[in-house]
Amino acid sequence: MIKLNGHNKIKTAVFISGNGTNLKSLIKFSLKKKSPIKIDIIFSNNSNAKGLNYARKFKIKFIILNYKNFKRTENLILKKLKQHSIELICLAGFMKILSNKFITEFGKKIINIHPSLLPKYKGLNTHQRVIEKKEKFTGCTVHYVNQKLDSGKIILQKKIRISKKDTPKTLARKVLKYEHIIYPQAIKKIFTNP
Ligand code: GRF
Repeated sequence: MIKLNGHNKIKTAVFISGNGTNLKSLIKFSLKKKSPIKIDIIFSNNSNAKGLNYARKFKIKFIILNYKNFKRTENLILKKLKQHSIELICLAGFMKILSNKFITEFGKKIINIHPSLLPKYKGLNTHQRVIEKKEKFTGCTVHYVNQKLDSGKIILQKKIRISKKDTPKTLARKVLKYEHIIYPQAIKKIFTNP
């Protein structure tokens, strides 16, 4: 069990690329007294990401990543993570792949949220694909990030029923609502049952 008072919260970095609604839910969670994490820095590979507005609103430092040179960018991230003594990375709709070298060199926990019931429907366009396959259920998963895409150990999942009327858009909205709930729950789970 970690101590939640004082300054010993887990120093966390969140990586985003777009709307950042998961970032928003993580920030709100992090501001709760009993939250095990503190968000110290946000990275975005997209300077127009809407999610950066949450960084601005909550006055959290953010860094825009220019992925023209992949290696150099990852090295820069690693340097910043070290400078800020980051112990946890939360990927939240981050559309870039982290290299094996990066994962090894960081050497600490990296987690991600994915909008499907992993191990089913790894990768992109999950809602479209579950509807095409006439699935009855979908969901969302928080998992550790390892060397293989969407394949690390599962931390928490929420199963959601698909209605006959659902379109990829309505389903995305439904699933996202639960993503915002389970991402903080998964973090609590990690740091209260290490
Ligand atoms: C979420 O559905 C997440 O699961 C996926 O990308 C989406 C990001 O949404 N990886 P947001 O940027 O957090 O609003």
